[in-house]
Amino acid sequence: MAEFNSVAKAYAGKNGAEKEVFRDVSFMIERGDRIALVGVNGAGKSTLIKLLAGSEPLTHGEFRLGHNAQADYFAQDQYKELNPDARILDDLGEISPGSSQTELRNLLGCFLFQEDDVFKKIDVLSGGERGRYALLRLLLHPANFLLLDEPTNHLDLRAKDVLLNALMAYTGTVVFVSHDRYFIDRLATRVFEVGDGKVEVFPGNYEDYLWRKQGGSARLAETIAASTKRGESPIAASSNSAANAQLTDGDATAAPKIKRLNPIKRKQMQDRVRELEEEISLIEGTVAQCETGLQNFVSADQSQRQSQTLDRHKAALASLTREWEDLSQALQESD
Ligand SMILES: Nc1ncnc2c1ncn2[C@@H]1O[C@H](COP(=O)(O)OP(=O)(O)OP(=O)(O)O)[C@@H](O)[C@H]1O
Ligand SMILES: [Mg+2]
Repeated sequence: MAEFNSVAKAYAGKNGAEKEVFRDVSFMIERGDRIALVGVNGAGKSTLIKLLAGSEPLTHGEFRLGHNAQADYFAQDQYKELNPDARILDDLGEISPGSSQTELRNLLGCFLFQEDDVFKKIDVLSGGERGRYALLRLLLHPANFLLLDEPTNHLDLRAKDVLLNALMAYTGTVVFVSHDRYFIDRLATRVFEVGDGKVEVFPGNYEDYLWRKQGGSARLAETIAASTKRGESPIAASSNSAANAQLTDGDATAAPKIKRLNPIKRKQMQDRVRELEEEISLIEGTVAQCETGLQNFVSADQSQRQSQTLDRHKAALASLTREWEDLSQALQESD
């Protein structure tokens, strides 16, 4: 999909001084990848997205985009690009001229703009609403290569969920910047860590990335060795896969299966259970909303699109519920 070969990037600073952001960076992005860019503020994540979008020139090296690749760039401050005087329903109609008012309203409903909200001018929208609207615009006609710079900024939990579902169902390639752990965790198939002029590519998902950052199997082996020596049960827990994932990923599949949980792991699991409960109730709301939308038949085409959206939400709901059940069971067994 895209390839960097020995890319360097520097911004021209005052008095001819240069600010070097990247030196000698090489990587490949494959079709269907969903890559999370992580790194501290100022590391160069936005710069990397801009290089991929072609909106910043390289200083050295080579950047190749697959011949069918069509990039769509969502900037960190994307909402600034919207026309402040347009009403959202009209604005959306402009970019989707084939759609009826009802279709547009249903779509807006799925992005949590209801009833009279759709007549609001972009100008009066809150930061969160504006971000959510800008994303809906983008996702309405997505290209096959999405470049999203902090798309979850200013989104509330519910809107984040809508975005997450849309992106999980999206079959194209995505490179996104996010500081939201849950979002990265659910979405990323690979993690690129940006910093110190480099881009370090981690092969697995976010869990693998954290695992490797924490010292991976070496750390686990040490812990197990130490606790076995003291005659205690080592950390890690039931045979349940969801509960165990964080501690048995990567090279650590040989971790012993025992019932007791260490308190940290237990707390993490309890937090996650609560988070899941919140997520589940939100998606249940969205599913109900989409079901109501489907009852207003407008066209076969629209119904099909709506039922696809509904299916995606239902699939997400099923997967979250499964995770919740697994975790609850593991917690119960360890009591
Ligand atoms: N147009 C520019 N001119 C000069 N320096 C710039 C320019 N854009 C970014 N920089 C500098 O390049 C570095 C990387 O910035 P970038 O915006 O890519 O970071 P980031 O990882 O996206 O940070 P954040 O998490 O805060 O969004 C920073 O030191 C920044 O000050
Ligand atoms: Mg940035």
